[in-house]
Amino acid sequence: MAQVRLDKVTKIYDGNVLAVDEFTLDIQDKEFLVLVGPSGCGKSTTLRMIAGLEEISGGDLYIGDRRVNDVAPKDRDIAMVFQNYALYPHMSVFDNMSFALRLRRVSKAEIKKQVESAADILGIHELLQRKPRQLSGGQRQRVAMGRAIVRDPKVFLFDEPLSNLDAKLRVQMRVELGRLHARLETTVIYVTHDQVEAMTLADRIVVMKDGVVQQVGTPMDLFHTPTNAFVGGFIGSPSMNFLTADVKSEGDQITLTGNGFKFILDDERSAAVRTSGDSQIQFGLRPLHVVPGEPGQAQFSARVDVIEPMGVEAFYHFNVGDAAVVGRAEGGARCKVGDTVQFGVDYDGLHLFSADGTKRLNA
Ligand SMILES: Nc1ncnc2c1ncn2[C@@H]1O[C@H](COP(=O)(O)OP(=O)(O)O)[C@@H](O)[C@H]1O
Ligand SMILES: [Mg+2]
Repeated sequence: MAQVRLDKVTKIYDGNVLAVDEFTLDIQDKEFLVLVGPSGCGKSTTLRMIAGLEEISGGDLYIGDRRVNDVAPKDRDIAMVFQNYALYPHMSVFDNMSFALRLRRVSKAEIKKQVESAADILGIHELLQRKPRQLSGGQRQRVAMGRAIVRDPKVFLFDEPLSNLDAKLRVQMRVELGRLHARLETTVIYVTHDQVEAMTLADRIVVMKDGVVQQVGTPMDLFHTPTNAFVGGFIGSPSMNFLTADVKSEGDQITLTGNGFKFILDDERSAAVRTSGDSQIQFGLRPLHVVPGEPGQAQFSARVDVIEPMGVEAFYHFNVGDAAVVGRAEGGARCKVGDTVQFGVDYDGLHLFSADGTKRLNA
């Protein structure tokens, strides 16, 4: 069993830098957990505290049932893969992969068996005698993973392992990583700034910002019910569009108005907005709900600024009042640059947030 439990885990670096603020989470055995967020939000620091490479300033960390705050990295039964791979340049691939086993005084025959088995999984058998400098980026990446696999750890930690690869290889390795996890059946904690990696690999995603966990959930939870505007904007590509609206209350109904739109909310959403008491709110629209000419419960008027035809679909850059809004529709262009078009969004496509974006208002 390899659950990992963080209870208010906090990191304050010298100089009073609060890098991670009371991170609390139960990571399940065999789960693929992804930590995602912009650069500097505290992802690596969190991972390094789990690995034991960074001292924990506050809170408790458990691996299995054991509190490991003060346990040395080598005794935590984890293996970490770094962004820069950190291979030993003077050692062959075989020696890089077997290094930890040699330290553990595993027999030669057993080392050979384990290294070859990992090499087979990763398709790098023919590279075992090479030195790291004789490998491509993608091959080095595989060796770094192989080195982690042979240790047979309870938990794999990955810190942006694909960031140094070109776009095509990144997609290929991403698919391989998913396959590898299914095969190894171990707990994985994976750090990335790339929301696509997070969406495609994760059982659950943790979105961080400024050292603080914003939301934890499945990819679909985060996509459909982001808890604040930050998560809404971070998860999903192209990004969620945001508009500011004035709130007008007439009887039980709330009307949202702005430059380019005016619509009445249904009872449930009216109640949610009224409870917040805000005179202005922000709302988000996913590009997939912004389809020129489409009818819907909330109507918008937009001027077409740019059209990007992609073949199967086209992206539309609109101005709704002064706000830039991206739309998407299947097939070729449905309108011309300079046109004024209407589009409708059903209530289900509206993500209502407080004016400052910190709170979600609708369920
Ligand atoms: N050794 C350090 N000393 C002081 N501050 C640090 C150190 N390492 C990271 N930080 C700061 O802690 C914050 C989180 O960094 P990091 O965990 O590396 O973020 P991420 O991996 O999400 O990009 C940043 O503000 C960063 O500048
Ligand atoms: Mg980092």
